[in-house]
Amino acid sequence: RNKIKISASILAANPMRFEEEIKRIEAAGIDLIHIDVMDGHFVPNITIGPFIVAGIRRITNIPLDIHLMIEHPERYVEAFAGAAEGNGIITFHIETVKNPKEIISLIKSTGMKVGISLNPGTPVEMIENFLDQVDMALVMSVNPGFAGQKFIPIALPKIARLRDKAPDKMDIQVDGGITPDNISQVVKQGANVIVAASAIFKTSDPGNAIKSLKQIAEQ
Ligand code: DX5
Ligand code: ZN
Repeated sequence: RNKIKISASILAANPMRFEEEIKRIEAAGIDLIHIDVMDGHFVPNITIGPFIVAGIRRITNIPLDIHLMIEHPERYVEAFAGAAEGNGIITFHIETVKNPKEIISLIKSTGMKVGISLNPGTPVEMIENFLDQVDMALVMSVNPGFAGQKFIPIALPKIARLRDKAPDKMDIQVDGGITPDNISQVVKQGANVIVAASAIFKTSDPGNAIKSLKQIAEQ
């Protein structure tokens, strides 16, 4: 099995205190920092651009896990890769591109790793042809737009099918509604990169939340 990694989504952190919040999760041994980029078109919310990502890069060397929930993602790849200083992964949504191969090579050319994502309503078949070209596939377990939503179980068979079809080295990420109660289920189906926002930042001790999520996932 691929190494379990926890990716903390700062969407549920205090945006006026990113530095403190990030130092705290860094001390707890977080593997990745998940940055939810939303444009108000692909999803009904607007969040973070390259400017804030560059600010985050100045305070941490943790790999940045940039989740692009935007139309025309190819237009912004270079700006986000530059802001992350080439350290991390850029994930685009299959629903937003006409030519997946083009954006995959564009992301690779920046030195960032590549992820391909699909919404709860999008079938796994849509990305099957690209699994050997990406580092990670992201199965959304909520409709993207907001933190704090409830996990949609349709993600489970999708994770299992991807694990079956994908090269062993490809990581499988799951994002949305992850809690200490369902993390074992997603890992059992084959997910190994686990995103959590609320289950980390909406607790009294985010460092401890990370450690216990990881511990449960590794069991
Ligand atoms: C949803 C985002 C998720 C979100 C997860 O659109 O892509 O990364 O921050 O939040 P929780 O873990 O609270 O469901
Ligand atoms: Zn996300």
